[in-house]
Amino acid sequence: MNKILIKNIGELLTGRNGSLEILHNKEILIREGMIESVGKRGEFSEEGCEVIDAGNSLVTPGLVDPHTHLVFFGTREDEFEMRIQGKGYMEIAAAGGGIRKSVKMLREASEDDLVEHSLPYLESMLRHGTTTVEVKSGYGLSLKDELKSLRALKRLNEMQKVDLVPTFLGAHEFPDEYRNDREKYIDLIINEMIPAVVEEGLAEFCDIFTEEGVFTVSESEKILTAASDAGLGLKLHAEEFEPIGGAELAAKLNAVSADHLVAVSDEGIRSLKEAGVTPVLLPGTTFFLGSDVYAPARKMIDAGLRPAIATDFNPGSSMTESLQIILTIACLKLKLTPLEAFEAVTLNAAKALNRSDSIGSLDIGMKADIVIWNADNHKQIPYHYGVNNVRTVIKGGDVVFSFSG
Ligand code: NIG
Ligand code: FE
Repeated sequence: MNKILIKNIGELLTGRNGSLEILHNKEILIREGMIESVGKRGEFSEEGCEVIDAGNSLVTPGLVDPHTHLVFFGTREDEFEMRIQGKGYMEIAAAGGGIRKSVKMLREASEDDLVEHSLPYLESMLRHGTTTVEVKSGYGLSLKDELKSLRALKRLNEMQKVDLVPTFLGAHEFPDEYRNDREKYIDLIINEMIPAVVEEGLAEFCDIFTEEGVFTVSESEKILTAASDAGLGLKLHAEEFEPIGGAELAAKLNAVSADHLVAVSDEGIRSLKEAGVTPVLLPGTTFFLGSDVYAPARKMIDAGLRPAIATDFNPGSSMTESLQIILTIACLKLKLTPLEAFEAVTLNAAKALNRSDSIGSLDIGMKADIVIWNADNHKQIPYHYGVNNVRTVIKGGDVVFSFSG
Protein backbone atom coordinates (compact mmCIF):
# COMPACT_ATOMS: atom_id res chain seq x y z
CA MET A 1 0.00 0.00 0.00
CA ASN A 2 0.96 3.62 0.36
CA LYS A 3 4.37 4.99 1.04
CA ILE A 4 4.53 8.70 1.72
CA LEU A 5 7.53 10.97 2.07
CA ILE A 6 7.04 14.32 3.77
CA LYS A 7 10.04 16.32 2.70
CA ASN A 8 11.39 19.81 3.40
CA ILE A 9 10.07 20.02 6.94
CA GLY A 10 11.11 23.35 8.45
CA GLU A 11 10.38 22.73 12.11
CA LEU A 12 9.30 19.35 13.46
CA LEU A 13 7.76 18.84 16.89
CA THR A 14 8.12 15.35 18.26
CA GLY A 15 8.41 13.57 21.58
CA ARG A 16 11.81 12.70 22.95
CA ASN A 17 12.59 11.42 26.43
CA GLY A 18 9.16 12.33 27.69
CA SER A 19 8.96 15.88 26.41
CA LEU A 20 8.16 17.60 23.13
CA GLU A 21 11.22 18.77 21.23
CA ILE A 22 11.91 20.99 18.24
CA LEU A 23 13.91 19.44 15.41
CA HIS A 24 14.94 21.08 12.15
CA ASN A 25 15.51 20.01 8.55
CA LYS A 26 13.90 16.61 8.81
CA GLU A 27 11.83 14.38 6.60
CA ILE A 28 9.37 11.64 7.50
CA LEU A 29 8.77 8.34 5.77
CA ILE A 30 5.34 6.78 6.23
CA ARG A 31 4.37 3.24 5.31
CA GLU A 32 1.07 1.44 5.88
CA GLY A 33 -0.23 4.29 7.97
CA MET A 34 2.69 4.25 10.42
CA ILE A 35 5.84 6.32 10.82
CA GLU A 36 8.55 4.17 9.32
CA SER A 37 11.42 6.56 9.82
CA VAL A 38 12.39 10.14 10.65
CA GLY A 39 15.57 11.24 8.92
CA LYS A 40 17.64 14.19 7.76
CA ARG A 41 16.53 16.13 4.69
CA GLY A 42 17.37 14.19 1.56
CA GLU A 43 18.08 10.97 3.46
CA PHE A 44 15.28 8.86 1.94
CA SER A 45 14.75 7.90 -1.68
CA GLU A 46 11.58 9.29 -3.26
CA GLU A 47 11.15 6.19 -5.36
CA GLY A 48 7.71 4.60 -5.00
CA CYS A 49 6.60 7.35 -2.65
CA GLU A 50 3.83 9.85 -2.80
CA VAL A 51 5.87 12.97 -2.02
CA ILE A 52 4.44 15.79 0.05
CA ASP A 53 6.56 18.92 0.07
CA ALA A 54 6.17 20.68 3.41
CA GLY A 55 7.84 23.77 1.94
CA ASN A 56 9.88 24.54 5.07
CA SER A 57 6.83 24.73 7.26
CA LEU A 58 5.92 23.44 10.69
CA VAL A 59 4.98 19.77 11.07
CA THR A 60 3.50 18.37 14.30
CA PRO A 61 1.73 15.25 15.50
CA GLY A 62 -2.03 15.30 14.87
CA LEU A 63 -3.64 17.08 17.77
CA VAL A 64 -5.28 15.03 20.51
CA ASP A 65 -8.32 16.51 22.27
CA PRO A 66 -8.63 14.56 25.54
CA HIS A 67 -11.90 15.99 26.93
CA THR A 68 -15.10 16.73 25.00
CA HIS A 69 -18.85 16.31 25.33
CA LEU A 70 -19.44 16.06 21.59
CA VAL A 71 -22.60 13.92 21.75
CA PHE A 72 -25.25 16.54 22.44
CA PHE A 73 -28.36 17.69 20.61
CA GLY A 74 -29.22 21.36 20.18
CA THR A 75 -27.33 24.45 21.28
CA ARG A 76 -27.58 26.84 24.27
CA GLU A 77 -26.65 30.29 22.99
CA ASP A 78 -29.35 31.78 25.24
CA GLU A 79 -27.19 30.90 28.27
CA PHE A 80 -24.21 32.57 26.64
CA GLU A 81 -26.23 35.77 26.58
CA MET A 82 -27.45 35.27 30.17
CA ARG A 83 -23.84 35.02 31.34
CA ILE A 84 -22.95 38.22 29.55
CA GLN A 85 -25.76 39.81 31.53
CA GLY A 86 -24.20 38.61 34.76
CA LYS A 87 -25.73 35.23 35.58
CA GLY A 88 -23.35 32.49 36.82
CA TYR A 89 -22.95 29.00 35.31
CA MET A 90 -24.15 27.20 38.43
CA GLU A 91 -26.98 29.72 38.85
CA ILE A 92 -28.21 29.04 35.29
CA ALA A 93 -27.97 25.30 35.97
CA ALA A 94 -29.99 25.60 39.18
CA ALA A 95 -32.72 27.43 37.24
CA GLY A 96 -33.14 24.47 34.84
CA GLY A 97 -30.62 25.52 32.22
CA GLY A 98 -27.19 23.99 31.85
CA ILE A 99 -26.64 20.26 31.61
CA ARG A 100 -30.28 19.46 32.36
CA LYS A 101 -31.44 21.55 29.41
CA SER A 102 -29.19 19.51 27.14
CA VAL A 103 -30.55 16.33 28.73
CA LYS A 104 -34.08 17.36 27.79
CA MET A 105 -33.03 18.00 24.19
CA LEU A 106 -30.97 14.81 23.81
CA ARG A 107 -33.73 12.60 25.17
CA GLU A 108 -35.98 13.77 22.34
CA ALA A 109 -33.43 12.86 19.67
CA SER A 110 -32.95 9.44 18.07
CA GLU A 111 -29.62 7.67 17.71
CA ASP A 112 -29.68 8.64 14.01
CA ASP A 113 -30.33 12.27 14.96
CA LEU A 114 -27.28 12.21 17.24
CA VAL A 115 -25.06 10.78 14.53
CA GLU A 116 -26.22 13.38 12.05
CA HIS A 117 -25.87 16.24 14.56
CA SER A 118 -22.34 15.21 15.58
CA LEU A 119 -20.78 14.56 12.18
CA PRO A 120 -20.19 18.17 11.10
CA TYR A 121 -18.46 18.94 14.40
CA LEU A 122 -16.08 16.02 13.89
CA GLU A 123 -15.35 17.14 10.36
CA SER A 124 -14.61 20.59 11.71
CA MET A 125 -12.26 19.15 14.33
CA LEU A 126 -10.35 17.29 11.64
CA ARG A 127 -9.99 20.45 9.53
CA HIS A 128 -8.60 22.18 12.62
CA GLY A 129 -5.94 19.52 13.07
CA THR A 130 -7.50 17.20 15.67
CA THR A 131 -7.00 13.54 14.79
CA THR A 132 -8.05 11.86 18.05
CA VAL A 133 -10.79 13.03 20.39
CA GLU A 134 -12.16 11.75 23.65
CA VAL A 135 -15.96 12.00 23.79
CA LYS A 136 -18.18 11.63 26.82
CA SER A 137 -21.82 10.65 27.06
CA GLY A 138 -23.65 12.39 29.89
CA TYR A 139 -26.61 14.21 28.39
CA GLY A 140 -28.82 11.11 28.55
CA LEU A 141 -28.79 10.29 32.27
CA SER A 142 -31.04 7.28 31.81
CA LEU A 143 -30.02 3.77 30.82
CA LYS A 144 -31.68 4.10 27.44
CA ASP A 145 -30.36 7.57 26.61
CA GLU A 146 -26.81 6.93 27.81
CA LEU A 147 -26.69 3.78 25.67
CA LYS A 148 -28.16 5.73 22.74
CA SER A 149 -25.38 8.32 23.06
CA LEU A 150 -22.61 5.75 23.27
CA ARG A 151 -24.02 3.71 20.39
CA ALA A 152 -24.14 6.84 18.25
CA LEU A 153 -20.51 7.41 19.20
CA LYS A 154 -19.56 3.90 18.14
CA ARG A 155 -21.17 4.46 14.74
CA LEU A 156 -19.46 7.83 14.38
CA ASN A 157 -16.12 6.22 15.14
CA GLU A 158 -16.64 3.78 12.29
CA MET A 159 -17.93 6.25 9.70
CA GLN A 160 -15.48 9.15 9.75
CA LYS A 161 -11.75 9.79 10.08
CA VAL A 162 -11.19 11.17 13.57
CA ASP A 163 -10.44 8.44 16.14
CA LEU A 164 -12.90 8.60 19.02
CA VAL A 165 -12.19 7.49 22.58
CA PRO A 166 -15.53 6.86 24.32
CA THR A 167 -16.17 7.74 27.96
CA PHE A 168 -19.28 6.94 29.98
CA LEU A 169 -20.43 9.97 31.98
CA GLY A 170 -23.76 8.86 33.41
CA ALA A 171 -22.71 10.73 36.56
CA HIS A 172 -22.68 14.13 34.86
CA GLU A 173 -25.65 15.41 36.87
CA PHE A 174 -28.71 14.06 38.71
CA PRO A 175 -31.61 13.92 36.26
CA ASP A 176 -34.84 15.66 37.31
CA GLU A 177 -36.66 12.42 38.07
CA TYR A 178 -34.02 11.48 40.70
CA ARG A 179 -33.39 14.93 42.22
CA ASN A 180 -34.97 13.82 45.47
CA ASP A 181 -33.61 10.30 45.48
CA ARG A 182 -29.91 10.53 44.80
CA GLU A 183 -29.23 7.05 46.17
CA LYS A 184 -31.55 5.55 43.61
CA TYR A 185 -29.79 7.24 40.69
CA ILE A 186 -26.40 6.14 42.00
CA ASP A 187 -27.75 2.57 42.23
CA LEU A 188 -28.99 2.83 38.66
CA ILE A 189 -25.55 3.92 37.47
CA ILE A 190 -23.77 1.17 39.38
CA ASN A 191 -26.17 -1.72 38.91
CA GLU A 192 -27.57 -1.08 35.44
CA MET A 193 -25.69 1.51 33.41
CA ILE A 194 -22.08 0.45 34.04
CA PRO A 195 -22.77 -3.26 33.45
CA ALA A 196 -24.70 -2.51 30.23
CA VAL A 197 -22.01 -0.15 28.92
CA VAL A 198 -19.26 -2.67 29.65
CA GLU A 199 -21.25 -5.60 28.30
CA GLU A 200 -21.67 -3.85 24.96
CA GLY A 201 -18.07 -2.58 24.94
CA LEU A 202 -19.24 1.00 24.55
CA ALA A 203 -16.72 2.86 26.72
CA GLU A 204 -13.08 2.84 27.69
CA PHE A 205 -13.35 5.29 30.58
CA CYS A 206 -15.84 6.31 33.24
CA ASP A 207 -15.97 9.97 34.22
CA ILE A 208 -17.93 11.88 36.89
CA PHE A 209 -18.71 15.51 37.75
CA THR A 210 -17.37 15.65 41.30
CA GLU A 211 -18.42 19.10 42.44
CA GLU A 212 -20.22 21.02 45.15
CA GLY A 213 -23.92 20.60 44.35
CA VAL A 214 -23.35 17.70 41.96
CA PHE A 215 -21.64 14.43 43.03
CA THR A 216 -19.94 14.43 46.43
CA VAL A 217 -16.52 12.86 46.92
CA SER A 218 -17.98 9.80 48.64
CA GLU A 219 -20.67 9.31 45.96
CA SER A 220 -17.92 9.66 43.35
CA GLU A 221 -15.76 7.08 45.07
CA LYS A 222 -18.61 4.59 45.10
CA ILE A 223 -19.40 5.03 41.40
CA LEU A 224 -15.79 5.12 40.22
CA THR A 225 -14.87 2.06 42.25
CA ALA A 226 -17.70 0.13 40.58
CA ALA A 227 -16.54 1.38 37.17
CA SER A 228 -12.96 0.38 37.87
CA ASP A 229 -14.04 -3.06 39.09
CA ALA A 230 -15.95 -3.45 35.82
CA GLY A 231 -12.75 -2.73 33.86
CA LEU A 232 -13.14 0.93 32.91
CA GLY A 233 -10.33 3.48 33.23
CA LEU A 234 -11.16 6.49 35.40
CA LYS A 235 -11.45 10.23 34.78
CA LEU A 236 -12.90 12.97 36.98
CA HIS A 237 -14.24 16.46 36.50
CA ALA A 238 -12.49 17.66 39.64
CA GLU A 239 -12.27 20.98 41.50
CA GLU A 240 -13.77 23.06 38.68
CA PHE A 241 -15.41 25.46 41.10
CA GLU A 242 -14.74 24.28 44.68
CA PRO A 243 -11.76 22.31 46.07
CA ILE A 244 -13.78 19.49 47.63
CA GLY A 245 -11.14 16.77 47.26
CA GLY A 246 -11.71 15.49 43.74
CA ALA A 247 -7.99 15.63 42.98
CA GLU A 248 -7.15 13.55 46.05
CA LEU A 249 -9.84 11.06 45.04
CA ALA A 250 -8.40 10.85 41.51
CA ALA A 251 -5.04 10.04 43.07
CA LYS A 252 -6.46 7.52 45.51
CA LEU A 253 -8.26 5.62 42.74
CA ASN A 254 -5.34 5.87 40.29
CA ALA A 255 -7.41 7.74 37.73
CA VAL A 256 -5.84 8.28 34.33
CA SER A 257 -6.71 11.97 34.44
CA ALA A 258 -8.23 14.68 36.64
CA ASP A 259 -9.81 17.44 34.59
CA HIS A 260 -10.56 21.17 35.12
CA LEU A 261 -8.68 21.65 38.46
CA VAL A 262 -9.32 25.41 38.49
CA ALA A 263 -9.71 25.39 42.29
CA VAL A 264 -7.22 22.60 43.09
CA SER A 265 -5.36 22.87 46.40
CA ASP A 266 -1.60 22.48 46.87
CA GLU A 267 -2.29 19.17 48.57
CA GLY A 268 -4.37 18.10 45.56
CA ILE A 269 -1.50 18.95 43.22
CA ARG A 270 0.91 16.93 45.36
CA SER A 271 -1.33 13.88 45.33
CA LEU A 272 -1.81 14.02 41.55
CA LYS A 273 1.94 14.08 41.13
CA GLU A 274 2.53 11.20 43.53
CA ALA A 275 -0.10 9.02 41.87
CA GLY A 276 0.94 9.87 38.29
CA VAL A 277 -2.47 11.29 37.34
CA THR A 278 -2.41 13.53 34.24
CA PRO A 279 -4.08 16.92 34.78
CA VAL A 280 -6.31 17.93 31.86
CA LEU A 281 -6.82 21.69 31.89
CA LEU A 282 -9.69 23.40 30.10
CA PRO A 283 -8.83 27.09 29.85
CA GLY A 284 -11.34 27.61 27.03
CA THR A 285 -14.07 26.80 29.53
CA THR A 286 -12.88 29.36 32.07
CA PHE A 287 -12.66 31.88 29.22
CA PHE A 288 -16.10 31.01 27.85
CA LEU A 289 -17.71 31.13 31.31
CA GLY A 290 -16.34 34.65 31.62
CA SER A 291 -14.27 33.96 34.72
CA ASP A 292 -10.88 35.48 35.52
CA VAL A 293 -9.66 32.62 37.69
CA TYR A 294 -7.72 30.02 35.70
CA ALA A 295 -6.25 26.68 36.76
CA PRO A 296 -2.83 27.08 38.42
CA ALA A 297 -0.96 25.51 35.53
CA ARG A 298 2.50 26.90 36.39
CA LYS A 299 2.18 25.61 39.93
CA MET A 300 1.41 22.18 38.54
CA ILE A 301 4.38 22.30 36.16
CA ASP A 302 6.62 23.47 39.01
CA ALA A 303 5.39 20.46 41.02
CA GLY A 304 6.55 18.19 38.20
CA LEU A 305 3.20 17.57 36.52
CA ARG A 306 2.83 17.73 32.72
CA PRO A 307 -0.66 19.01 31.98
CA ALA A 308 -2.71 18.19 28.93
CA ILE A 309 -5.20 20.71 27.59
CA ALA A 310 -8.52 20.13 25.83
CA THR A 311 -11.41 22.01 24.27
CA ASP A 312 -14.10 20.59 26.63
CA PHE A 313 -16.27 21.03 23.52
CA ASN A 314 -19.89 21.18 24.73
CA PRO A 315 -22.94 23.39 24.12
CA GLY A 316 -22.82 25.07 27.52
CA SER A 317 -19.38 25.94 28.76
CA SER A 318 -17.12 25.67 25.68
CA MET A 319 -18.58 25.78 22.20
CA THR A 320 -15.48 25.31 20.08
CA GLU A 321 -14.05 22.41 18.10
CA SER A 322 -10.72 24.15 17.62
CA LEU A 323 -7.73 23.28 19.78
CA GLN A 324 -5.92 26.18 18.11
CA ILE A 325 -7.87 28.84 20.01
CA ILE A 326 -7.32 26.77 23.18
CA LEU A 327 -3.56 26.96 22.57
CA THR A 328 -3.84 30.74 22.48
CA ILE A 329 -5.87 30.88 25.71
CA ALA A 330 -3.50 28.40 27.39
CA CYS A 331 -0.52 30.60 26.54
CA LEU A 332 -2.13 33.86 27.61
CA LYS A 333 -4.06 32.70 30.67
CA LEU A 334 -2.28 29.58 31.94
CA LYS A 335 1.08 31.11 31.01
CA LEU A 336 2.20 28.04 29.12
CA THR A 337 4.90 28.63 26.56
CA PRO A 338 3.83 27.80 23.00
CA LEU A 339 5.95 24.63 23.20
CA GLU A 340 4.36 23.59 26.51
CA ALA A 341 0.94 24.24 24.99
CA PHE A 342 1.76 22.03 21.99
CA GLU A 343 3.06 19.33 24.32
CA ALA A 344 -0.26 19.57 26.18
CA VAL A 345 -2.28 18.72 23.03
CA THR A 346 0.06 16.00 21.77
CA LEU A 347 2.26 13.97 24.16
CA ASN A 348 0.40 14.82 27.36
CA ALA A 349 -3.05 14.51 25.80
CA ALA A 350 -2.15 11.05 24.50
CA LYS A 351 -1.09 10.13 28.04
CA ALA A 352 -4.45 11.35 29.37
CA LEU A 353 -6.07 8.79 27.04
CA ASN A 354 -3.68 5.90 27.75
CA ARG A 355 -2.44 6.08 24.17
CA SER A 356 1.16 7.23 24.49
CA ASP A 357 2.36 4.21 22.57
CA SER A 358 0.52 5.10 19.36
CA ILE A 359 -0.27 8.82 19.12
CA GLY A 360 0.92 12.23 20.30
CA SER A 361 4.43 11.91 18.93
CA LEU A 362 6.09 11.17 15.59
CA ASP A 363 8.44 8.39 16.60
CA ILE A 364 9.05 5.26 14.59
CA GLY A 365 6.12 2.88 14.87
CA MET A 366 3.61 5.53 15.87
CA LYS A 367 0.45 6.19 13.86
CA ALA A 368 1.00 8.58 10.96
CA ASP A 369 -1.37 11.22 12.32
CA ILE A 370 0.31 14.43 11.23
CA VAL A 371 -0.47 18.11 10.70
CA ILE A 372 1.40 20.33 8.25
CA TRP A 373 0.78 23.95 9.15
CA ASN A 374 0.59 27.24 7.27
CA ALA A 375 3.40 28.53 9.48
CA ASP A 376 7.13 28.02 9.70
CA ASN A 377 7.38 27.65 13.47
CA HIS A 378 5.14 26.49 16.31
CA LYS A 379 4.98 29.89 18.04
CA GLN A 380 2.97 31.24 15.13
CA ILE A 381 0.00 28.98 15.88
CA PRO A 382 -1.16 30.38 19.25
CA TYR A 383 0.03 33.81 18.10
CA HIS A 384 -2.01 33.87 14.87
CA TYR A 385 -5.31 33.28 16.62
CA GLY A 386 -8.97 32.90 15.72
CA VAL A 387 -8.20 31.46 12.28
CA ASN A 388 -7.43 28.00 10.99
CA ASN A 389 -3.67 27.64 10.48
CA VAL A 390 -3.85 24.06 9.20
CA ARG A 391 -2.52 23.32 5.73
CA THR A 392 -2.72 19.52 5.51
CA VAL A 393 -3.98 16.79 7.83
CA ILE A 394 -2.69 13.25 7.44
CA LYS A 395 -4.63 10.56 9.32
CA GLY A 396 -3.27 7.03 9.49
CA GLY A 397 -1.13 7.77 6.44
CA ASP A 398 -3.93 9.26 4.32
CA VAL A 399 -4.22 12.92 3.39
CA VAL A 400 -7.68 13.69 4.75
CA PHE A 401 -7.72 17.48 4.54
CA SER A 402 -5.89 20.07 2.50
CA PHE A 403 -6.44 23.79 2.88
CA SER A 404 -7.46 25.37 -0.38
CA GLY A 405 -7.70 29.11 -0.19
O1 NIG B 1 -16.95 20.06 31.48
N1 NIG B 1 -18.54 20.68 34.11
C1 NIG B 1 -19.38 19.88 33.69
N2 NIG B 1 -19.61 19.53 32.43
C2 NIG B 1 -19.26 20.26 31.29
C3 NIG B 1 -20.29 21.27 30.94
C4 NIG B 1 -21.47 20.68 30.33
C5 NIG B 1 -22.54 21.65 29.97
O2 NIG B 1 -22.61 22.80 30.45
O3 NIG B 1 -23.37 21.21 29.17
C6 NIG B 1 -17.89 20.85 31.43
O4 NIG B 1 -17.70 22.06 31.45
FE1 FE C 1 -16.28 18.49 30.72
